[in-house]
Amino acid sequence: MISNTLTIAGTDCTGGAGIQADIKAISANGSYAMSVITAVVAQNTQGVQKIQTMPIDMIRAQLDSVFSDVKVDSVKIGMLGTPEIIICVADALDEYKPSKVVLDPVMVAKSGDRLLEKDALVALRDVLIPKVGLITPNLPEAADLLGQPEAVSREQMINQAKSLVVPTFIKGGHLALEESPDLLRVDDKYLWFESKRIATKNSHGTGCTLSAAIATFWGQGNSIDVACDKAKKYLTDALSKADTLNVGKGQGPVHHFYKYY
Ligand SMILES: Nc1ncnc2c1ncn2[C@@H]1O[C@H](COP(=O)(O)OP(=O)(O)OP(=O)(O)O)[C@@H](O)[C@H]1O
Ligand SMILES: [Mg+2]
Repeated sequence: MISNTLTIAGTDCTGGAGIQADIKAISANGSYAMSVITAVVAQNTQGVQKIQTMPIDMIRAQLDSVFSDVKVDSVKIGMLGTPEIIICVADALDEYKPSKVVLDPVMVAKSGDRLLEKDALVALRDVLIPKVGLITPNLPEAADLLGQPEAVSREQMINQAKSLVVPTFIKGGHLALEESPDLLRVDDKYLWFESKRIATKNSHGTGCTLSAAIATFWGQGNSIDVACDKAKKYLTDALSKADTLNVGKGQGPVHHFYKYY
C-alpha cells in the first residue's frame, strides 16, 4: 500500500520551497502527499515579498479534515510563523498522535527574510519540539534553539546535537567546507551523511525538500537512519540537477523530478 505523508507549512508561489517543494519531494519519492497551509507566502527566487498567515481556526479545520479521514503515515512540519500557530499544531499532535513527525524549525529563509516571529522561538522550543520524532535545524537554527554561537566545525555540530532534547538532524549546508555534511543524533548514536559541496546558486528549498523526503521515507517504514540516508542522497541528486531548470533571476529551486525528465 502507498504511504500517506502530510506537510504542514507555508507556501511558495514560485514552487521551489515550502508546501510546493514538499509535495514535489513526497510525490517524487513514491508517497501520497497532503498539505495543511499555515501561511500564504508571496516569495520568489529573490526573496520574500509578503506573508499572510492563515486564521487559526482555518489551520485547525484543515488539520481536522486530514486527520479525521486519512491514515497519516508521517508528517513534515515546516513554516509556522507565530506562537498561536505553533500551539494550534501542537494541540493537533496531542489529539491525533501521528507517530512519525519531522519538524524543520524554519526561522529564516535562505534569502535572509524572517519566517518565524522572534517570540515564537520559545513556543517552538518548549511546546512543539518535545512532541516530535526528529528536528532538522540548519546551523543558525540549532544555534538559536540553544542560545549558542553557530557551529563552525564538525566537532561543534556534535556538541550541539548532543544538547538538543529530541533526535536531531543538523544540516551542515552553512559550513564553509569542501563538503556539506549533515549529522543525525538519536539517543547516543551519531551518524554522518556526507556529500560534496555542489557549486550552484540554485539551492532554494533544499531544507524543505530534505525534511519532506525524510518524512516520506520514514513513513514508508524505513528506520530513521535509512530514511535520512535516502533523503540526503535524493536531495544531493536534485541539487546537482538544479541548473537544468530555468526558474527566476535569483536562487532557483532544486530539480525535484530529475529522475523523470
Ligand atoms: N552547496 C551544497 N552542496 C551540497 N549539499 C548542500 C549544499 N547546500 C546545502 N546542502 C545540503 O542541503 C540540505 C539542506 O541544508 P541547508 O543547510 O541548506 O538547509 P537550510 O538552510 O534549512 O535550507 P533552506 O534555506 O532551504 O531552508 C543539507 O542536506 C545540506 O547538507
Ligand atoms: Mg531551512
